[in-house]
Amino acid sequence: MSDQVAVTGATGFIGRVVCRALKADGWRVRALARSVAGSRLLEPVVDECIQGHLEDADSLNALVDGSHAVIHCAGTVRGVTQQHFERVNVSGTEQLVTVLSSLQSPPKLLALSSLAAREPALSFYAASKRKAEKVLEQRASRLDWVALRPPAVYGPGDRELLPLFRLMARGVAPVPGRRDARFSMIYVEDIARLIIAWLRQDTVASGVYSIHDGYSGGYAWDDVAAAVAGICQHPVRLLPVPLALLWLPAHLNRLAGRVANYMPMLTPGKLRELRHPDWVCDNREIAAVLDWQPQVQLQEGLRRTPGWCPLLD
Ligand SMILES: NC(=O)c1ccc[n+]([C@@H]2O[C@H](COP(=O)([O-])OP(=O)(O)OC[C@H]3O[C@@H](n4cnc5c(N)ncnc54)[C@H](OP(=O)(O)O)[C@@H]3O)[C@@H](O)[C@H]2O)c1
Repeated sequence: MSDQVAVTGATGFIGRVVCRALKADGWRVRALARSVAGSRLLEPVVDECIQGHLEDADSLNALVDGSHAVIHCAGTVRGVTQQHFERVNVSGTEQLVTVLSSLQSPPKLLALSSLAAREPALSFYAASKRKAEKVLEQRASRLDWVALRPPAVYGPGDRELLPLFRLMARGVAPVPGRRDARFSMIYVEDIARLIIAWLRQDTVASGVYSIHDGYSGGYAWDDVAAAVAGICQHPVRLLPVPLALLWLPAHLNRLAGRVANYMPMLTPGKLRELRHPDWVCDNREIAAVLDWQPQVQLQEGLRRTPGWCPLLD
């Protein structure tokens, strides 16, 4: 068995943590990078970089050649148009599946989907992640594959949730959706540990699996505020944000994104995701097929995440 693992999206938040964990576990890591700057960034955490992108079959062939497995972390989480999300998340997955399926002994494939795929009507992002899962279900019959549906992922290197935790560290927790909403979360290094468990295990039934940190029933905003308050050693007050305050910037962002090719995070679709009351999932199906248990729940994960609470730095 080859000890080489190919990784897409290695320059991203999750991809970089995964590469570092793979190296530490003794795997040879070959990564896809879209730019020279990306390749340089990856030098300390991978053995080899292939310059290219998901749309380019030649670079994908060079990436996967001789690998035991492919970890597909590339994807886009920001944008305003359906075409943008579909080009990266759906066509990118399609292209990878086509390349792998053409090989005589294809490497196994683990792809990062998202819990958002459970609610494809909410946003272009959610719909694109569901469509990418369907690509695997319908077109990857020659492959051993799994797709993971993580909920909100946080940890070292994350840029999306860090501003929220920084505000909370100052004593205010803005609540963008319903106060009674519940949501699962996962610490990024638990995803890396899952991937290593999957690499080591001979067979895992192909399919889509939701994953989370093991906190049964998910978190409420009060739980997050309490975790932050425990670390920062002062109270954190919940501040519900009226829909109208988010609606206008979301729509302005969509307009600016269309005109100026800008990739905002807050869009009308993201707002619908944020206001959805139930992002709770469970680990039952993955626990039935894989020898993996999450190790880090929210307060411990936040303690291990630098850059948001002065007491931790
Ligand atoms: N973060 C979360 O909370 C979360 C939750 C659930 C699911 N996910 C999923 O997990 C995956 C990784 O998320 P992340 O948070 O690590 O995102 P990220 O930090 O934005 O990283 C995205 C990665 O994808 C690469 N990429 C984008 N378009 C590409 C293309 N056309 N060809 C090749 N590479 C391309 C980026 O490369 P560049 O560096 O060159 O831009 C980057 O390496 C995504 O599929 C996302 O949907 C994330």
